[in-house]
Amino acid sequence: MSRFEEVTDRTGTRSVKWDRSKLLFTGEDILPMWVADMDFKSPQPVLDAISERAQHGIFGYTLPDDEVHTTIQNWLNRRHGWDIDTEWISYSPGVVPSLYMMIQAFTEENDGVLIQTPVYAPFFDVIKRHNRKLVTNELKRNDTSYEIDFEDFEEKIVSNDVKAFILCNPHNPVGRVWTEEELQRMADICLKHDVVIFSDEIHADIILPGHKHVPIATLSDRINKQTITCLSPTKTFNLAGLQASYIVTADAEKKKQLDEQFKNNGMGMLNIFGLTALEAAYQHGEAWLEELNETLESHRDYVTERFHKELEGVTVIRQEGTYLMWIDFSGTGLSHQKLKDYMETEARVGLNDGKWFGEGGEGFLRMNLACPRKTLEDGVERIVQAFKRL
Ligand SMILES: Cc1ncc(COP(=O)(O)O)c(C=O)c1O
Repeated sequence: MSRFEEVTDRTGTRSVKWDRSKLLFTGEDILPMWVADMDFKSPQPVLDAISERAQHGIFGYTLPDDEVHTTIQNWLNRRHGWDIDTEWISYSPGVVPSLYMMIQAFTEENDGVLIQTPVYAPFFDVIKRHNRKLVTNELKRNDTSYEIDFEDFEEKIVSNDVKAFILCNPHNPVGRVWTEEELQRMADICLKHDVVIFSDEIHADIILPGHKHVPIATLSDRINKQTITCLSPTKTFNLAGLQASYIVTADAEKKKQLDEQFKNNGMGMLNIFGLTALEAAYQHGEAWLEELNETLESHRDYVTERFHKELEGVTVIRQEGTYLMWIDFSGTGLSHQKLKDYMETEARVGLNDGKWFGEGGEGFLRMNLACPRKTLEDGVERIVQAFKRL
């Protein structure tokens, strides 16, 4: 049996997805397909490295060393053709905490910060919680995909005196892996108006066959110096509970400012197990990752085909990256609230509410495909049977 077919019971592990679903959904028999973590075990070398480290028995203060920096450098080079200097790396417990530090370090109260909606909800929080001005460039729906409204992108920057842009690449939830041309146009506009780019590339490794992730910082030296990129092995290898991520900042002055901000907030260490897992995953996890991306491609195709064939008024947005599927239920005729209720009470599947992602999320739900095929088929069957009865 493939490691991606193995069903592991996650209940009773304090899992947000499996044990906390009751906070969000009512009913006993809800199949959770929401939070962005996977129901797959991490690669065996990662499990071995963590066990070995645990057996050592002493868990004192620990810092990443040259071997860890070089492991990251090699990973970015091999997987994304990005040649970084190890001096550019900073460590952080997570991408969300990094975004908080970045907003604090590089913007002031009431400064405009641009995001592209619908988008991962903590992007809204980081702006609002710091009293920055939320500026949105809504993505344009184009049949079963999305594209960028560049005129609006620039107009919003100019008219709101935007200081920072939080890019999501690949994009959660619309599943786009932005092309080099799209990234170049956004970067050129940011350079023109001196907007610093916070590039959240946490989904960079989850790229479905036929697409290529381009780190925006690789486009030119000037763009590299205008960009701060957040990356992590936690989405890629299902390590979210271990909390380990890093930031790449090529501009020495910006790097210093960011590191100071971490210090000012009393942060700077990485969890031992996070560090151990990061290293093992990047050194020995590549074959697992290739198999994961192929599995996700087949899951995407399976769900798309069944929904499009068997359900009226349901449109699956074409997913190029991430393991998250953005689904348009607006053609079913249900109001957003009725759609959510129906999914919960009739289909008994727990999906993310499209409105959580802001403008453009009405009538949508997001489905997590990173589960064994058996679980996926159960979820699809529940949805198909329920929506056929509509
Ligand atoms: C775009 C994006 N950024 C950040 C995160 C969370 O990052 P972290 O767990 O490292 O804080 C997620 C998780 O779903 C995400 O989708």
